Amino acid sequence: MTQDISLITGASGFIASHVVQLLLETGNEVHATVRSTKNRKKIKHLLDMQEKWPGKLTLFEADLLKAGSFEASMKDCSVVYHIASPFFIENKIRDGQKEVVEPALKGTQHVLDAVKKCETVKLAVLTSSVAAIFGDNADVLNMKDKRLSTEYFNTTSSVEYNAYPYSKVVAEKEAWKMYQEQPSPKRWNLVTINPGLVLGPSLSPTSESGSLSLFDQLLRGQLFLGVPDMWFAIVDVRDVATAHIRAARNPDAHGRYILAHSRTYGFVELSRMLRSITQSSRIPRNKIPNALVRMSGPVLGLSQKWLRLNLGIPFDIDNHASLDQLNVIYRPLEETLADHYSSWKAAQG
Ligand SMILES: NC(=O)c1ccc[n+]([C@@H]2O[C@H](COP(=O)([O-])OP(=O)(O)OC[C@H]3O[C@@H](n4cnc5c(N)ncnc54)[C@H](OP(=O)(O)O)[C@@H]3O)[C@@H](O)[C@H]2O)c1
Repeated sequence: MTQDISLITGASGFIASHVVQLLLETGNEVHATVRSTKNRKKIKHLLDMQEKWPGKLTLFEADLLKAGSFEASMKDCSVVYHIASPFFIENKIRDGQKEVVEPALKGTQHVLDAVKKCETVKLAVLTSSVAAIFGDNADVLNMKDKRLSTEYFNTTSSVEYNAYPYSKVVAEKEAWKMYQEQPSPKRWNLVTINPGLVLGPSLSPTSESGSLSLFDQLLRGQLFLGVPDMWFAIVDVRDVATAHIRAARNPDAHGRYILAHSRTYGFVELSRMLRSITQSSRIPRNKIPNALVRMSGPVLGLSQKWLRLNLGIPFDIDNHASLDQLNVIYRPLEETLADHYSSWKAAQG
């Protein structure tokens, strides 16, 4: 019986941990890759899952940068969820090519090279991002009805400017290219999940995911003076995990799926909600005026161009495919933030 084995790449991570857990909860056999099985601290949640579901979860070592790395883990699998890829906030990236673009692109090539060789694989689900659709919020203003839609690809990012969004668009485009290059009839299908900023409870003890680190700064009170007028497409990590698995279970699933609430939320709205949940006066209820943010741009590591194309630009989001084809019921944002906070607090010890 090979039909039920799923491979998840990057299982130490924030999103992938939830996909692994959900697959195990629903009775599946799972192969999962991590960079090192020796780092027990990083994979503690996976070791706990192995105890809870004996014989159902097998761990393999694989590195996105190493050709051939994923072949052993893929043996006998029917679905490959390629989730591993570094996600850092823009002002933390020093060398975009090395830190994000290379692992994203080479990783996708190496995983799909293995898919090409592995006859049992019928479907690859790639975790892309809304960042593969737009680079700056201002890009969405040029889309039909000024609404984020899967009809578009990010054309404004580069290694030098918005390196993480660039890593996501080059990786996703490469995946579509490799999918198209298959001889006819195609043996494996490709679906991409394109989430907004992912929040919610973390199972992963050491994830450095950009979404967790951004909210870590907020929860630690480091932004107590106020938050910039930024707007985010938001989604709960549990809804993202569900969407991955529904995409694999629905034989009609195809193409790209945006995973996010139907409008962006202001950082200040999110901050006010968290202030009320946490009862902490170190979490701000005010926006920093845009003029002041522009003056502090160099200190924050944000260029004037980036600030001009992102501050104060909300937009709507076409998430209908996730509702109609994957039957995602988006959790209320208050629940996501409350559970995000509880999990963050528990991790502080
Ligand atoms: N969080 C969000 O808001 C968000 C939104 C949209 C899309 N995404 C996408 O979702 C995916 C997972 O992100 P996440 O938020 O869960 O971040 P995360 O917790 O940092 O997970 C990233 C994973 O990638 C692995 N990885 C990085 N470089 C690697 C390499 N060279 N070889 C093997 N594995 C490597 C990491 O392994 P280590 O633990 O060993 O570093 C980790 O398991 C990424 O593709 C990201 O672009 C995230």
